[in-house]
Amino acid sequence: MARLTVNVDHVATLRQARLAREPDPVEAALIAEHAGADGITVHLREDRRHIQDRDLILLRKLVKTRLNLEMAPTQEMLSVALDVRPHMVTLVPEKREELTTEGGLDVRTYGETLRGYIATLRDAGIQVNLFIDAMPDIVKMCHRIGADGVEVHTGPYAEATADGERRAELKKLHDCVILAKRLGLKVHAGHGLDYHNIKEVARIREIEEFAIGFSIVARSVYAGMEQAVRDMIRLINTKE
Ligand code: PXP
Repeated sequence: MARLTVNVDHVATLRQARLAREPDPVEAALIAEHAGADGITVHLREDRRHIQDRDLILLRKLVKTRLNLEMAPTQEMLSVALDVRPHMVTLVPEKREELTTEGGLDVRTYGETLRGYIATLRDAGIQVNLFIDAMPDIVKMCHRIGADGVEVHTGPYAEATADGERRAELKKLHDCVILAKRLGLKVHAGHGLDYHNIKEVARIREIEEFAIGFSIVARSVYAGMEQAVRDMIRLINTKE
């Protein structure tokens, strides 16, 4: 059974829209855990547009499952991670002007720099995954530079509109996760997954964990966080 980590960034987006105290992503995270989530993910962005440092510190104290910090490979974020010590870090690329993370890390160009970040974080006892596009050569590089695992970008699959295109993206994902598994990497996947497109990708047995945020937070507006998380867990585990 694949695990689900719930990304609560967009609960913070709503709070920050009014610079208010509610809704609180920490409270949302605890409800998500109560509903069966296996972990909580937050992305602390350089511009602090949603998650704040205070959220991260409280989550580290209160999350009972596992806390995954998504962060850009920068010195500022490295020192935050070494202070807070989440269970896991997922290194992601970050641009100020993007609405959300747009693509995987450029491991081809920045492999050596990433190797340094990975080593420092791992020395501190933090598991390190790299968020990557589904490309075999990139998977191999992640293995070579010492990552514990990969999170494969499911955005191109989620955004594919034509059947043929979607199937081609699924095949790319499948080939990559088989390779990653063979190399002994932990295999996660995420981005753009929702209640409609999760089933097909959840059939790929090698994927150990899904990181899902926007669609769960969106459904929680109508159904509540607990129901939204339960619905997603049920779909992840539907294998027909
Ligand atoms: N994985 C990574 C690396 C991400 O950057 C995000 C978005 O913050 C997600 C997963 C979750 O994506 P979504 O919010 O589209 O479910």
